[in-house]
Amino acid sequence: MDSFLIEGGLPLSGEVTISGSKNAVLPILAATLLTSETCIIRRVPDLSDVGFMLKILQSLGAEVTRDGDTLTIRAANISGRGDYELIRKMRGSICILGPLLARLKEAVVSLPGGCVIGTRPIDLHLKGLRGLGAQVEVEAGYVRVHAPRLEGQMIFLGGRVGPTVLGTANLMMAATLASGITVIESAACEPEVVDLADFLIAMGAKITGAGSPTITIHGVKALHGADHEVIADRIEAGTFAAVAAATGGEVTLRGARPDHLGAVLDKLQEAGAEIRRAAGVLTVRGTGSLKPIDITTMPYSGFPTDMQAQLMALACQAPGTSIITERIFESRFMHASELMRLGADIAIEGPSAIVKGGRPLSGAPVMASDLRASAALVIAGLAAKGSTQVHRVYHLDRGYERMELKLQKLGARIQRTPGE
Ligand code: EPU
Repeated sequence: MDSFLIEGGLPLSGEVTISGSKNAVLPILAATLLTSETCIIRRVPDLSDVGFMLKILQSLGAEVTRDGDTLTIRAANISGRGDYELIRKMRGSICILGPLLARLKEAVVSLPGGCVIGTRPIDLHLKGLRGLGAQVEVEAGYVRVHAPRLEGQMIFLGGRVGPTVLGTANLMMAATLASGITVIESAACEPEVVDLADFLIAMGAKITGAGSPTITIHGVKALHGADHEVIADRIEAGTFAAVAAATGGEVTLRGARPDHLGAVLDKLQEAGAEIRRAAGVLTVRGTGSLKPIDITTMPYSGFPTDMQAQLMALACQAPGTSIITERIFESRFMHASELMRLGADIAIEGPSAIVKGGRPLSGAPVMASDLRASAALVIAGLAAKGSTQVHRVYHLDRGYERMELKLQKLGARIQRTPGE
């Protein structure tokens, strides 16, 4: 398992090009199963999660070719039975369920496991598909869905903590080929849902309201191939913005979408960073005088849970008390104890982390536990004096494209050490 060796304490400055969004591309890849025609997907990030999803599509019978960051996918003859081991490994694989059901009328996939950030149930995905008339059985680690005919309905999809992103994606994809009109109430409003809707519309789907809590889908008989460019990854952009703020450097984020980053940029500004927007570029400057922040994670357009760990790393640098409350995933504080190895003062009280910031961080060996926790450890390591070894960076490779190379371009002293 690879690790990163970081010599911290330098302000990082320069330009970084933001890759395509992981959380947009995964459901978009699943959506290619809705047609037998060729789909071209551009700006696809080279991530291990994308690699997994492509293996899943290939195991179902799709043909996939890659040319740089462009994928050509043709799912002409596919089966509705996914490879148990492949699907179990990755949460995002659950979004093949809706397209397989819509196209083949039945599907059998393994249940994606819980994971380190929380239990991650799929009850809302299944509620959505049942709402369209599917029979759903969960048995021996598998979900079987079956529906000779899907019928549009009004379906309320809100859950315990609000909307579900991939649940909305699954239902929206299934509804494209249902008969009649489906209305999803309490739909997720994330930009990744809008990007998926844009791809589906390019395939011939009739969808309105994506990006709002009410999405309306008029079912069509068939979808055709389409050519689509994936949106920029707002979480990668936010992570590099946090790098600039935490190291007191200045980073220009090329291709980032400031309109998807409202809550994150607002908090960075509150923390003392300077933000400049110009056509196609966003620049974040760490002013060197950081202030404490209060953050509560929420569904879009609130502060994203996927940026919580990175801003906790930043808060460790800000003199004073920051309060970070996690409302989306119950166990998403695994990074706190690792940040404490670097000298941070953090107390977890229920869903909140109380961060007493401003103590100088110093390098230490730390262990990455999930994707965004890993990013937080890298940020803290870059800000800390001395050397930090971040173990298990395979978590990071799931969602950040060549992160160490992008950081090196900004002047970071960071090396990947293969194996262990
Ligand atoms: N939930 C349910 N039942 C369900 C589905 C979700 O109770 O059937 C709950 C979850 O347990 C959670 C909340 O609803 O408390 C929201 O979960 P959501 O379904 O929105 O999460 P997701 O769609 O599985 C995506 C991203 C996550 C991101 C969340 C929230 C992908 C592949 N994953 O997950 O990304 O944190 O939305 O924004 O799109 C990451 O990139 O690091 C990551 C974890």
